[in-house]
Amino acid sequence: MNHFAYKDGELWCEEVPLSRIATRVGTPAYVYSAATLRRHARVFRDAISPVGASDSTRAPLCCYAVKASGNLAVLSLLRREGYGFDIVSGGELLRALRAGAKANTIVFSGVGKRDDELRAALSAGILQFNCESEEELVQLSRVAQSMRKTAPVAVRVNPDVNAKTHPYIATALSTSKFGIPAARAREAYRLSANLPGLRAVGLACHIGSQIGELRPFVEAATKMRALLLDLRADGHQLINLDLGGGLGVSYGEGTTPVSPEKYGRALARVLRGLDVRLLVEPGRLIVANAAVLLSSVILTKLGAGSRRFVVIDAGMNDLVRPALYGAHHEIEKVSLRDGAATKPQHEKRPARVRVDVVGPVCESADLFAQQRLLPPLASGDLVAIRSAGAYGMSMASNYNARPRPAEVLIDGARVRVVRERESLEDLLRGETT
Ligand code: LLP
Repeated sequence: MNHFAYKDGELWCEEVPLSRIATRVGTPAYVYSAATLRRHARVFRDAISPVGASDSTRAPLCCYAVKASGNLAVLSLLRREGYGFDIVSGGELLRALRAGAKANTIVFSGVGKRDDELRAALSAGILQFNCESEEELVQLSRVAQSMRKTAPVAVRVNPDVNAKTHPYIATALSTSKFGIPAARAREAYRLSANLPGLRAVGLACHIGSQIGELRPFVEAATKMRALLLDLRADGHQLINLDLGGGLGVSYGEGTTPVSPEKYGRALARVLRGLDVRLLVEPGRLIVANAAVLLSSVILTKLGAGSRRFVVIDAGMNDLVRPALYGAHHEIEKVSLRDGAATKPQHEKRPARVRVDVVGPVCESADLFAQQRLLPPLASGDLVAIRSAGAYGMSMASNYNARPRPAEVLIDGARVRVVRERESLEDLLRGETT
Protein backbone atom coordinates (compact mmCIF):
# COMPACT_ATOMS: atom_id res chain seq x y z
CA MET A 1 0.00 0.00 0.00
CA ASN A 2 1.43 3.37 -0.96
CA HIS A 3 0.20 6.89 -1.59
CA PHE A 4 1.20 7.31 -5.24
CA ALA A 5 -1.90 7.18 -7.45
CA TYR A 6 -3.46 8.63 -10.57
CA LYS A 7 -6.20 11.21 -10.23
CA ASP A 8 -7.75 12.45 -13.43
CA GLY A 9 -4.92 11.05 -15.52
CA GLU A 10 -2.19 12.68 -13.42
CA LEU A 11 0.14 10.85 -11.02
CA TRP A 12 0.01 12.30 -7.52
CA CYS A 13 1.96 11.74 -4.33
CA GLU A 14 -0.54 12.12 -1.51
CA GLU A 15 -2.20 15.51 -2.14
CA VAL A 16 0.37 16.85 -4.57
CA PRO A 17 0.61 16.24 -8.32
CA LEU A 18 4.12 15.11 -9.22
CA SER A 19 4.18 17.64 -12.06
CA ARG A 20 4.01 20.43 -9.47
CA ILE A 21 7.06 19.03 -7.70
CA ALA A 22 8.98 18.88 -10.98
CA THR A 23 8.15 22.51 -11.69
CA ARG A 24 9.22 23.57 -8.23
CA VAL A 25 12.29 21.42 -7.62
CA GLY A 26 13.35 20.26 -11.09
CA THR A 27 14.34 16.73 -12.10
CA PRO A 28 15.70 14.23 -11.36
CA ALA A 29 14.31 14.20 -7.83
CA TYR A 30 13.46 11.53 -5.29
CA VAL A 31 9.95 12.08 -3.97
CA TYR A 32 9.05 10.35 -0.68
CA SER A 33 5.59 9.96 0.79
CA ALA A 34 5.48 10.50 4.55
CA ALA A 35 2.10 8.75 4.85
CA THR A 36 3.54 5.67 3.15
CA LEU A 37 6.61 5.65 5.38
CA ARG A 38 4.45 5.90 8.48
CA ARG A 39 2.10 3.20 7.28
CA HIS A 40 4.91 0.77 6.51
CA ALA A 41 6.61 1.53 9.81
CA ARG A 42 3.41 0.91 11.79
CA VAL A 43 2.33 -2.22 9.93
CA PHE A 44 5.72 -3.81 10.48
CA ARG A 45 6.02 -2.73 14.11
CA ASP A 46 2.53 -4.02 14.88
CA ALA A 47 3.27 -7.28 13.07
CA ILE A 48 6.25 -8.13 15.23
CA SER A 49 4.83 -6.77 18.48
CA PRO A 50 3.45 -10.17 19.62
CA VAL A 51 7.00 -11.53 19.83
CA GLY A 52 7.90 -11.60 23.51
CA ALA A 53 4.85 -9.42 24.25
CA SER A 54 4.34 -10.80 27.76
CA ASP A 55 7.01 -8.53 29.25
CA SER A 56 6.92 -4.89 28.19
CA THR A 57 10.61 -4.28 28.88
CA ARG A 58 11.30 -6.89 26.25
CA ALA A 59 9.09 -5.35 23.55
CA PRO A 60 10.74 -5.86 20.16
CA LEU A 61 12.77 -3.01 18.72
CA CYS A 62 12.80 -2.21 15.01
CA CYS A 63 16.18 -0.84 14.01
CA TYR A 64 15.71 0.65 10.56
CA ALA A 65 18.67 -0.09 8.27
CA VAL A 66 19.98 3.39 7.54
CA LYS A 67 21.75 2.20 4.40
CA ALA A 68 18.40 1.80 2.63
CA SER A 69 17.81 5.55 2.73
CA GLY A 70 19.63 7.74 5.19
CA ASN A 71 17.97 11.09 4.59
CA LEU A 72 17.66 12.91 7.92
CA ALA A 73 13.96 13.60 7.38
CA VAL A 74 13.27 9.92 6.72
CA LEU A 75 15.25 8.92 9.81
CA SER A 76 13.59 11.46 12.04
CA LEU A 77 10.11 10.40 10.84
CA LEU A 78 10.98 6.79 11.70
CA ARG A 79 12.44 7.78 15.06
CA ARG A 80 9.11 9.42 15.87
CA GLU A 81 7.46 6.09 15.00
CA GLY A 82 9.54 4.46 17.73
CA TYR A 83 12.24 3.04 15.49
CA GLY A 84 15.87 2.59 16.39
CA PHE A 85 18.59 2.25 13.77
CA ASP A 86 20.98 -0.27 12.28
CA ILE A 87 24.16 1.47 11.14
CA VAL A 88 27.25 0.29 9.30
CA SER A 89 29.61 3.25 9.48
CA GLY A 90 30.59 6.36 11.39
CA GLY A 91 28.69 8.33 8.74
CA GLU A 92 25.49 6.44 9.43
CA LEU A 93 26.02 6.90 13.19
CA LEU A 94 26.22 10.64 12.63
CA ARG A 95 23.05 10.55 10.51
CA ALA A 96 21.12 8.59 13.14
CA LEU A 97 22.25 10.85 15.99
CA ARG A 98 21.61 14.00 13.96
CA ALA A 99 18.08 12.71 13.30
CA GLY A 100 17.58 12.60 17.08
CA ALA A 101 18.06 8.87 17.68
CA LYS A 102 18.75 7.78 21.24
CA ALA A 103 22.09 6.01 21.26
CA ASN A 104 20.60 3.06 23.10
CA THR A 105 18.42 2.28 20.08
CA ILE A 106 21.37 1.89 17.68
CA VAL A 107 23.02 -1.36 16.60
CA PHE A 108 26.27 -1.31 14.65
CA SER A 109 26.63 -3.95 11.90
CA GLY A 110 29.33 -4.42 9.29
CA VAL A 111 32.22 -6.68 8.47
CA GLY A 112 34.96 -4.06 8.90
CA LYS A 113 34.63 -1.22 11.38
CA ARG A 114 37.52 1.19 11.82
CA ASP A 115 38.89 2.11 15.26
CA ASP A 116 37.62 5.67 14.95
CA GLU A 117 34.13 4.37 14.10
CA LEU A 118 34.15 2.03 17.10
CA ARG A 119 35.33 4.91 19.30
CA ALA A 120 32.54 7.20 18.09
CA ALA A 121 29.93 4.51 18.75
CA LEU A 122 31.38 3.76 22.19
CA SER A 123 31.35 7.44 23.15
CA ALA A 124 27.74 7.71 22.00
CA GLY A 125 26.82 4.61 24.06
CA ILE A 126 25.05 2.49 21.46
CA LEU A 127 22.89 -0.54 22.25
CA GLN A 128 24.97 -3.24 20.62
CA PHE A 129 27.98 -3.90 18.40
CA ASN A 130 27.29 -6.78 16.03
CA CYS A 131 30.77 -8.25 15.67
CA GLU A 132 31.47 -10.29 12.57
CA SER A 133 34.78 -11.97 13.41
CA GLU A 134 36.98 -13.06 16.29
CA GLU A 135 39.42 -10.41 15.09
CA GLU A 136 36.77 -7.74 15.52
CA LEU A 137 36.11 -8.89 19.11
CA VAL A 138 39.81 -8.42 19.84
CA GLN A 139 39.82 -5.04 18.10
CA LEU A 140 36.73 -3.82 19.97
CA SER A 141 38.15 -5.03 23.28
CA ARG A 142 41.33 -3.05 22.65
CA VAL A 143 39.44 0.13 21.68
CA ALA A 144 36.97 -0.16 24.58
CA GLN A 145 39.77 -0.70 27.09
CA SER A 146 41.65 2.33 25.82
CA MET A 147 38.51 4.36 26.54
CA ARG A 148 37.84 2.61 29.86
CA LYS A 149 34.46 1.52 28.57
CA THR A 150 32.59 -1.74 28.26
CA ALA A 151 31.22 -2.51 24.82
CA PRO A 152 27.89 -4.37 24.59
CA VAL A 153 28.43 -7.03 21.95
CA ALA A 154 26.58 -9.61 19.90
CA VAL A 155 28.26 -11.99 17.54
CA ARG A 156 26.79 -12.00 14.08
CA VAL A 157 26.50 -15.61 13.15
CA ASN A 158 26.18 -16.90 9.64
CA PRO A 159 23.36 -19.43 9.93
CA ASP A 160 24.10 -20.94 6.49
CA VAL A 161 20.61 -20.76 5.06
CA ASN A 162 19.98 -20.37 1.39
CA ALA A 163 17.70 -17.39 0.92
CA LYS A 164 16.92 -17.30 -2.78
CA THR A 165 17.72 -13.79 -3.88
CA HIS A 166 20.16 -11.99 -6.13
CA PRO A 167 23.65 -13.42 -5.41
CA TYR A 168 24.97 -9.92 -4.70
CA ILE A 169 22.61 -9.53 -1.75
CA ALA A 170 22.51 -13.08 -0.33
CA THR A 171 24.57 -12.91 2.83
CA ALA A 172 24.08 -16.12 4.79
CA LEU A 173 25.67 -18.74 2.56
CA SER A 174 28.68 -20.51 4.00
CA THR A 175 30.85 -18.85 1.33
CA SER A 176 29.79 -15.35 2.31
CA LYS A 177 32.13 -12.83 3.95
CA PHE A 178 29.52 -11.97 6.57
CA GLY A 179 29.36 -13.21 10.13
CA ILE A 180 31.07 -16.04 11.98
CA PRO A 181 30.20 -19.62 10.96
CA ALA A 182 27.63 -21.00 13.41
CA ALA A 183 30.01 -23.85 14.29
CA ARG A 184 32.49 -21.34 15.78
CA ALA A 185 29.90 -19.26 17.64
CA ARG A 186 30.32 -20.83 21.10
CA GLU A 187 34.06 -20.42 20.88
CA ALA A 188 33.64 -16.79 19.83
CA TYR A 189 31.46 -16.10 22.88
CA ARG A 190 34.04 -17.80 25.09
CA LEU A 191 36.62 -15.49 23.61
CA SER A 192 34.42 -12.44 24.23
CA ALA A 193 33.95 -13.48 27.87
CA ASN A 194 37.71 -13.63 28.31
CA LEU A 195 38.39 -10.28 26.65
CA PRO A 196 38.37 -7.20 28.86
CA GLY A 197 36.06 -4.36 27.88
CA LEU A 198 33.38 -6.56 26.30
CA ARG A 199 30.01 -7.68 27.62
CA ALA A 200 28.06 -10.15 25.49
CA VAL A 201 24.43 -9.01 25.44
CA GLY A 202 23.03 -10.53 22.27
CA LEU A 203 23.18 -12.81 19.29
CA ALA A 204 22.71 -11.59 15.71
CA CYS A 205 22.23 -12.72 12.12
CA HIS A 206 21.06 -11.27 8.82
CA ILE A 207 20.40 -13.62 5.95
CA GLY A 208 20.09 -11.36 2.91
CA SER A 209 17.78 -8.92 1.23
CA GLN A 210 14.70 -8.93 -1.03
CA ILE A 211 13.77 -12.37 0.29
CA GLY A 212 10.36 -13.42 -1.03
CA GLU A 213 9.59 -16.48 1.08
CA LEU A 214 9.11 -17.19 4.74
CA ARG A 215 11.09 -20.43 4.88
CA PRO A 216 14.63 -19.00 5.17
CA PHE A 217 13.56 -16.63 7.95
CA VAL A 218 12.00 -19.50 9.90
CA GLU A 219 15.03 -21.68 9.28
CA ALA A 220 17.41 -18.96 10.47
CA ALA A 221 15.28 -18.09 13.52
CA THR A 222 15.07 -21.77 14.48
CA LYS A 223 18.85 -22.16 14.28
CA MET A 224 19.36 -18.94 16.24
CA ARG A 225 16.96 -20.05 18.96
CA ALA A 226 18.86 -23.29 19.45
CA LEU A 227 22.17 -21.45 19.47
CA LEU A 228 20.93 -18.86 21.94
CA LEU A 229 19.91 -21.64 24.34
CA ASP A 230 23.34 -23.29 23.97
CA LEU A 231 25.05 -20.00 24.65
CA ARG A 232 22.91 -19.37 27.71
CA ALA A 233 23.76 -22.85 28.93
CA ASP A 234 27.41 -21.86 28.52
CA GLY A 235 26.73 -19.01 30.94
CA HIS A 236 26.33 -16.03 28.61
CA GLN A 237 23.50 -13.77 29.67
CA LEU A 238 22.17 -12.82 26.29
CA ILE A 239 19.14 -10.54 26.26
CA ASN A 240 18.87 -9.48 22.60
CA LEU A 241 18.22 -11.63 19.55
CA ASP A 242 18.80 -9.63 16.36
CA LEU A 243 17.40 -11.33 13.27
CA GLY A 244 18.43 -8.63 10.79
CA GLY A 245 16.33 -7.41 7.87
CA GLY A 246 15.65 -8.82 4.46
CA LEU A 247 11.90 -8.96 3.84
CA GLY A 248 11.25 -8.51 0.14
CA VAL A 249 8.83 -6.05 -1.41
CA SER A 250 6.88 -6.00 -4.64
CA TYR A 251 8.60 -4.23 -7.51
CA GLY A 252 5.51 -4.71 -9.60
CA GLU A 253 6.52 -8.00 -11.21
CA GLY A 254 7.54 -11.42 -9.96
CA THR A 255 7.74 -11.73 -6.18
CA THR A 256 4.68 -11.64 -4.02
CA PRO A 257 6.27 -10.50 -0.80
CA VAL A 258 5.85 -12.22 2.55
CA SER A 259 3.37 -10.21 4.56
CA PRO A 260 4.76 -8.63 7.74
CA GLU A 261 1.89 -10.28 9.65
CA LYS A 262 2.94 -13.75 8.52
CA TYR A 263 6.56 -12.95 9.32
CA GLY A 264 5.61 -11.71 12.81
CA ARG A 265 3.42 -14.73 13.54
CA ALA A 266 6.13 -17.14 12.36
CA LEU A 267 8.78 -15.49 14.54
CA ALA A 268 6.44 -15.48 17.53
CA ARG A 269 5.94 -19.21 17.03
CA VAL A 270 9.65 -20.02 16.72
CA LEU A 271 10.69 -17.80 19.63
CA ARG A 272 7.84 -18.67 22.00
CA GLY A 273 8.92 -18.86 25.64
CA LEU A 274 12.46 -17.72 24.93
CA ASP A 275 12.38 -14.56 27.09
CA VAL A 276 14.45 -12.47 24.76
CA ARG A 277 14.24 -9.01 23.25
CA LEU A 278 13.81 -9.30 19.50
CA LEU A 279 15.67 -6.80 17.33
CA VAL A 280 14.95 -6.58 13.62
CA GLU A 281 16.61 -4.43 10.97
CA PRO A 282 14.15 -3.73 8.15
CA GLY A 283 15.26 -1.38 5.40
CA ARG A 284 13.71 -2.00 2.01
CA LEU A 285 10.32 -2.95 3.42
CA ILE A 286 9.90 0.45 5.01
CA VAL A 287 11.14 2.72 2.29
CA ALA A 288 11.24 1.04 -1.16
CA ASN A 289 7.66 1.72 -2.17
CA ALA A 290 7.55 5.02 -0.31
CA ALA A 291 9.42 6.94 -3.02
CA VAL A 292 9.67 7.45 -6.75
CA LEU A 293 12.49 8.87 -8.79
CA LEU A 294 10.93 11.67 -10.82
CA SER A 295 12.66 12.33 -14.13
CA SER A 296 12.10 14.19 -17.42
CA VAL A 297 12.46 12.85 -20.92
CA ILE A 298 15.37 14.64 -22.59
CA LEU A 299 14.70 13.22 -26.05
CA THR A 300 13.62 10.10 -27.82
CA LYS A 301 15.77 8.51 -30.48
CA LEU A 302 15.52 5.78 -33.03
CA GLY A 303 18.21 3.09 -32.95
CA ALA A 304 18.91 0.38 -35.48
CA GLY A 305 15.81 -1.15 -37.03
CA SER A 306 12.82 0.11 -35.17
CA ARG A 307 14.32 0.17 -31.68
CA ARG A 308 13.15 3.22 -29.81
CA PHE A 309 15.06 4.80 -26.96
CA VAL A 310 13.63 7.20 -24.43
CA VAL A 311 16.55 9.11 -22.90
CA ILE A 312 15.68 10.52 -19.48
CA ASP A 313 17.59 12.92 -17.25
CA ALA A 314 18.11 10.33 -14.49
CA GLY A 315 20.98 7.91 -14.91
CA MET A 316 22.55 4.91 -13.24
CA ASN A 317 24.42 7.33 -11.00
CA ASP A 318 21.05 8.37 -9.54
CA LEU A 319 19.52 4.88 -9.30
CA VAL A 320 21.96 2.03 -9.86
CA ARG A 321 19.75 -0.98 -9.08
CA PRO A 322 18.74 -1.81 -12.67
CA ALA A 323 22.36 -1.50 -13.88
CA LEU A 324 23.86 -3.38 -10.94
CA TYR A 325 21.33 -6.14 -10.31
CA GLY A 326 19.18 -6.08 -13.43
CA ALA A 327 16.45 -4.96 -11.04
CA HIS A 328 12.96 -4.29 -12.36
CA HIS A 329 11.32 -0.96 -11.56
CA GLU A 330 7.95 0.07 -12.91
CA ILE A 331 8.04 3.26 -14.94
CA GLU A 332 5.00 5.46 -15.23
CA LYS A 333 4.22 8.44 -17.36
CA VAL A 334 3.22 11.17 -14.95
CA SER A 335 0.55 12.75 -17.13
CA LEU A 336 -1.68 10.54 -19.24
CA ARG A 337 -3.77 13.48 -20.24
CA ASP A 338 -1.97 14.84 -23.34
CA GLY A 339 -4.63 16.64 -25.26
CA ALA A 340 -7.17 14.24 -23.89
CA ALA A 341 -9.75 16.93 -23.34
CA THR A 342 -9.85 17.69 -27.06
CA LYS A 343 -9.96 14.06 -28.19
CA PRO A 344 -12.97 11.85 -28.57
CA GLN A 345 -13.58 9.47 -25.68
CA HIS A 346 -12.28 6.35 -27.44
CA GLU A 347 -8.90 8.01 -28.13
CA LYS A 348 -8.24 9.12 -24.56
CA ARG A 349 -6.03 6.25 -23.51
CA PRO A 350 -2.89 6.53 -25.58
CA ALA A 351 -1.65 3.37 -27.28
CA ARG A 352 1.45 1.82 -25.79
CA VAL A 353 4.77 1.55 -27.57
CA ARG A 354 7.74 -0.69 -26.88
CA VAL A 355 10.77 1.33 -25.79
CA ASP A 356 14.09 1.15 -23.97
CA VAL A 357 14.24 3.74 -21.19
CA VAL A 358 17.84 4.79 -20.73
CA GLY A 359 19.88 7.40 -18.89
CA PRO A 360 22.49 9.79 -20.27
CA VAL A 361 25.50 8.10 -18.63
CA CYS A 362 28.18 6.71 -20.92
CA GLU A 363 27.69 3.04 -20.04
CA SER A 364 25.60 0.46 -21.84
CA ALA A 365 24.33 -0.70 -18.44
CA ASP A 366 22.72 2.71 -17.92
CA LEU A 367 19.20 1.56 -18.64
CA PHE A 368 16.02 1.45 -16.63
CA ALA A 369 13.87 -0.73 -18.88
CA GLN A 370 14.29 -2.73 -22.06
CA GLN A 371 11.52 -3.32 -24.56
CA ARG A 372 8.94 -2.06 -22.07
CA LEU A 373 5.43 -1.18 -23.21
CA LEU A 374 4.78 2.42 -22.19
CA PRO A 375 2.49 5.23 -23.32
CA PRO A 376 4.15 7.36 -26.00
CA LEU A 377 6.77 9.63 -24.46
CA ALA A 378 8.21 12.82 -25.90
CA SER A 379 10.79 15.37 -24.87
CA GLY A 380 9.71 17.20 -21.71
CA ASP A 381 7.35 14.48 -20.48
CA LEU A 382 7.75 13.42 -16.87
CA VAL A 383 8.21 9.82 -15.78
CA ALA A 384 8.16 8.29 -12.31
CA ILE A 385 10.42 5.32 -11.61
CA ARG A 386 8.55 3.46 -8.89
CA SER A 387 9.80 1.65 -5.78
CA ALA A 388 12.96 3.78 -5.76
CA GLY A 389 13.07 4.63 -2.05
CA ALA A 390 15.36 1.83 -0.91
CA TYR A 391 18.97 1.75 -2.08
CA GLY A 392 18.16 4.58 -4.49
CA MET A 393 19.57 7.87 -3.24
CA SER A 394 21.76 6.04 -0.73
CA MET A 395 23.65 4.35 -3.61
CA ALA A 396 23.73 7.42 -5.85
CA SER A 397 27.11 8.60 -7.08
CA ASN A 398 28.62 11.47 -9.00
CA TYR A 399 29.73 9.33 -11.94
CA ASN A 400 30.06 11.33 -15.15
CA ALA A 401 30.32 14.43 -12.90
CA ARG A 402 26.58 14.44 -12.38
CA PRO A 403 25.23 16.19 -9.28
CA ARG A 404 23.06 13.97 -7.12
CA PRO A 405 19.29 14.59 -7.21
CA ALA A 406 17.18 16.56 -4.78
CA GLU A 407 15.06 14.69 -2.22
CA VAL A 408 11.54 15.86 -1.47
CA LEU A 409 9.23 14.68 1.31
CA ILE A 410 5.49 15.03 0.76
CA ASP A 411 3.24 15.00 3.79
CA GLY A 412 -0.39 15.52 2.81
CA ALA A 413 -0.36 18.74 0.83
CA ARG A 414 2.97 19.83 2.29
CA VAL A 415 6.06 19.74 0.05
CA ARG A 416 9.44 19.85 1.76
CA VAL A 417 12.81 19.74 0.02
CA VAL A 418 14.69 17.60 2.52
CA ARG A 419 17.91 17.55 0.56
CA GLU A 420 18.89 20.21 -1.94
CA ARG A 421 19.97 19.11 -5.36
CA GLU A 422 23.79 19.10 -5.51
CA SER A 423 25.26 21.98 -7.45
CA LEU A 424 28.11 21.76 -9.93
CA GLU A 425 30.27 23.62 -7.41
CA ASP A 426 29.48 20.91 -4.82
CA LEU A 427 31.14 18.44 -7.16
CA LEU A 428 34.46 20.28 -6.92
CA ARG A 429 34.48 20.77 -3.15
CA GLY A 430 37.79 19.89 -1.60
CA GLU A 431 39.64 19.47 -4.90
CA THR A 432 42.67 21.37 -6.05
CA THR A 433 44.09 21.81 -9.51
N1 LLP B 1 20.83 -5.52 8.32
C1 LLP B 1 22.00 -5.76 7.72
C2 LLP B 1 23.14 -6.22 8.52
C3 LLP B 1 22.13 -5.58 6.32
O1 LLP B 1 23.29 -5.83 5.73
C4 LLP B 1 21.00 -5.13 5.58
C5 LLP B 1 21.11 -4.91 4.13
C6 LLP B 1 19.81 -4.86 6.26
C7 LLP B 1 19.75 -5.08 7.63
C8 LLP B 1 18.57 -4.39 5.58
O2 LLP B 1 18.07 -5.32 4.69
P1 LLP B 1 16.67 -5.06 3.95
O3 LLP B 1 15.58 -5.13 4.98
O4 LLP B 1 16.73 -3.71 3.33
O5 LLP B 1 16.58 -6.13 2.95
N2 LLP B 1 21.68 -2.60 -2.46
C9 LLP B 1 20.88 -3.80 -2.50
C10 LLP B 1 20.52 -4.28 -1.11
C11 LLP B 1 21.71 -4.50 -0.23
C12 LLP B 1 21.32 -4.91 1.17
C13 LLP B 1 22.46 -4.81 2.10
N3 LLP B 1 22.16 -5.12 3.46
C14 LLP B 1 19.66 -3.53 -3.36
O6 LLP B 1 19.51 -2.42 -3.88
O7 LLP B 1 18.84 -4.43 -3.57
